[in-house]
Amino acid sequence: MTSPPEFLKNNLPTSSASIGRPHITLTWAQSLDSKIAGPGGQRVILSGKESMLMTHWMRSMHDAILIGVNTLILDDPRLQANLLPPSLNIPPPQPLILDPKLRFPVTARILGEWNTKVSERGRTVRQPWIICGEDVSLKRKEQVEIAGGRVIPVPLDERGHISPSSLPSIISNLGLKSVMIEGGSKVLSTFLHCPKRHDGSNLVDSVVITVAPMFIGDGIGVVPQGEDIGLPKLKYIHTEIMGKDAVMICSKE
Ligand SMILES: NC(=O)c1ccc[n+]([C@@H]2O[C@H](COP(=O)([O-])OP(=O)(O)OC[C@H]3O[C@@H](n4cnc5c(N)ncnc54)[C@H](OP(=O)(O)O)[C@@H]3O)[C@@H](O)[C@H]2O)c1
Repeated sequence: MTSPPEFLKNNLPTSSASIGRPHITLTWAQSLDSKIAGPGGQRVILSGKESMLMTHWMRSMHDAILIGVNTLILDDPRLQANLLPPSLNIPPPQPLILDPKLRFPVTARILGEWNTKVSERGRTVRQPWIICGEDVSLKRKEQVEIAGGRVIPVPLDERGHISPSSLPSIISNLGLKSVMIEGGSKVLSTFLHCPKRHDGSNLVDSVVITVAPMFIGDGIGVVPQGEDIGLPKLKYIHTEIMGKDAVMICSKE
């Protein structure tokens, strides 16, 4: 395969040209009992090889991949599109971390790979960009910058979070046209619950869910316990069976 699967190209309009603002995709992989990780946030391999490859194609269709700082700490992910053929020279997506208190561990793998400028599979990587609160100490900011991260202070909302409504302008100011938000649970929850814009349009343009045929039982839900009230209605767009998994594309109603 030398380009993204047709069903993604047809149903995921990540080009912002048509909407005049950054395209925001929310995505995750879940079990049949709506869990995205095991007990205590333990990583569980949910996606099979076909849907994992699809996720990497989806990453290549966005300028940036965004996660919450807990996912970075718990999973130490690479946030790359390593499964795509290297001969295609597809530019790596920009890793973005939502990290209000700048808890970012300087031992993170994405930082190590950036500092050596080469990932395990010999591909180029991008510098991790960490979006934090404006009130983080200069000393802490310097520590992370010296370790190789780019620190981007922004105003926080009343909960001390980077509010979903502020994300489009943050993204645009960074010169990015699309972002794929990959989790974890708390970040997914705030973006699922976020209200519409003043003009009635949705902040989140696409929702892509991979459902794996397994149960996790005790574990981390798609949204944290108690936050499953008031979840939005989803408008169904497409389902694709990829190996053992079902990949569903929706939008918020
Ligand atoms: N299956 C999947 O597709 C998938 C994908 C990704 C992650 N995961 C799993 O998700 C788990 C981690 O989820 P999590 O809920 O603990 O953490 P998370 O969502 O990764 O990170 C949450 C943290 O991000 C910060 N934050 C900044 N802005 C935020 C906002 N608008 N909304 C929410 N948080 C914001 C807060 O940091 P402060 O507390 O410092 O303020 C918050 O505590 C891991 O177990 C990981 O394996 C699964």
